[in-house]
Amino acid sequence: MKQIFYNKAVINNFKKKITVSGDKSISIRWVLFASLASGISSASNLLLSEDVLAAISSIKKLGIKVKIYRNKCLIYGKGINGFKYKKNITIDAKNSGTLGRLILGLLINSPYEIKLVGDQSLSKRDFTRVTIPLGKFGAKFKLSKNKTLPLTIQGSSNLKPIKYFESKGSAQCKSSVILAGLRTSGTTLIKAKKSRNHTELLCRYLQLPLKISNKKNIDLIEVNKAEYIKPIKYNIPSDISSSAFFIVLTALTKNSELIIKNVNINPSRTGVITILKKMGIKINFKNIKNYKGELIGDIFIRSPNKIKSINCPKKLNSGAIDEFLVIFLVAAKASGTSYFKGLSELNQKESPRLFWGAKILNLMGIKTITDEDSIKIFGNPNLNINKKIIIKNYLKDHRVFMTSVIAALSFGGDWEIHDKDSINTSFPKFLNIIENLKK
Ligand code: S3P
Repeated sequence: MKQIFYNKAVINNFKKKITVSGDKSISIRWVLFASLASGISSASNLLLSEDVLAAISSIKKLGIKVKIYRNKCLIYGKGINGFKYKKNITIDAKNSGTLGRLILGLLINSPYEIKLVGDQSLSKRDFTRVTIPLGKFGAKFKLSKNKTLPLTIQGSSNLKPIKYFESKGSAQCKSSVILAGLRTSGTTLIKAKKSRNHTELLCRYLQLPLKISNKKNIDLIEVNKAEYIKPIKYNIPSDISSSAFFIVLTALTKNSELIIKNVNINPSRTGVITILKKMGIKINFKNIKNYKGELIGDIFIRSPNKIKSINCPKKLNSGAIDEFLVIFLVAAKASGTSYFKGLSELNQKESPRLFWGAKILNLMGIKTITDEDSIKIFGNPNLNINKKIIIKNYLKDHRVFMTSVIAALSFGGDWEIHDKDSINTSFPKFLNIIENLKK
């Protein structure tokens, strides 16, 4: 059955310690960098979800050998110029914007035309945000409707470095240009609005020619051509975006406590924690350590007595960009009206998430006022749903599915949530962990 049903399924009173799956952003980056390394890279706790498996299939198409044993993955890199380009290669990024956009940066010197395709959701998303800067390096693109997948890239052997201003706060755009810069002689200069910085941290750990100066609202990044990448042994930390579903579930239930072990708490990803703390949720980090430049720690959460509304500062948006759907659920239970603004990027995700966020809340009986980049949420601390809610036709956006499950377990009601396979994109173990919490 593709649907899942919850009827009066509120859960309370749990005290648990859980581990969520490996970080998706780091897993995809590890696969791509390992494919360029000279020698065998190994990762434990790699996220084996469809997005990451699509990254693995893509590098295999480029002639790189990969082995997966249980929780371990080995990638046999053949050096920075080790891809075997053939005629008529098609790469399928499936649902993954990160893979689709980052891999184009690596294909910038392909001697043949390569086709990039994706699933229905990815095929609706804007690729000009990367093909315009990559085109300036010298690659040639043909896009569908001048904007989307399927597209073809024809690389160039005469790449020129570029100056690029990344103005959306998109780590995918920034990373795509960094990867292209690593393949290009001369200095590529990037001025980037703040966004997750896993690519930069991995480059620094690998001692690649990248200089960063962090300013208040932007980062200045200088990239030069890389000659060698050492093999990377990496123990992938758990994903804070996957953790966020359970953090919010704990915040919305009574008398519960949760510990989530070994999570990546890179400050460019912890916007959800800052926002929820401002709303009165008790969250702490413990056992914090630095792992290859990334911060890792355990997250402790307790059910709050009261949830406060928030006028969310825009500067927190990029660090919480994948978590707003669940943050909106917390605002639904807050006393007072919450306001989130500067969020037009949410409608550029796997589904138009600002629209879906409002839709889920409205179906739950919560009033919202939405425009193309903001949402006002009129919270109800006594919210208790007593009707049938059907969630479907949402482009199989994994986060819409998981958010709906958290809503069903927090607010009651009779839910029918379609397309449960959508979790395979980022978090195949999601429903198993939910079942475990109920025991
Ligand atoms: C990601 C960047 C973000 C995020 C996505 C993962 C990454 O996208 O939403 O889930 O790994 O670089 P944008 O770069 O489009 O903001």
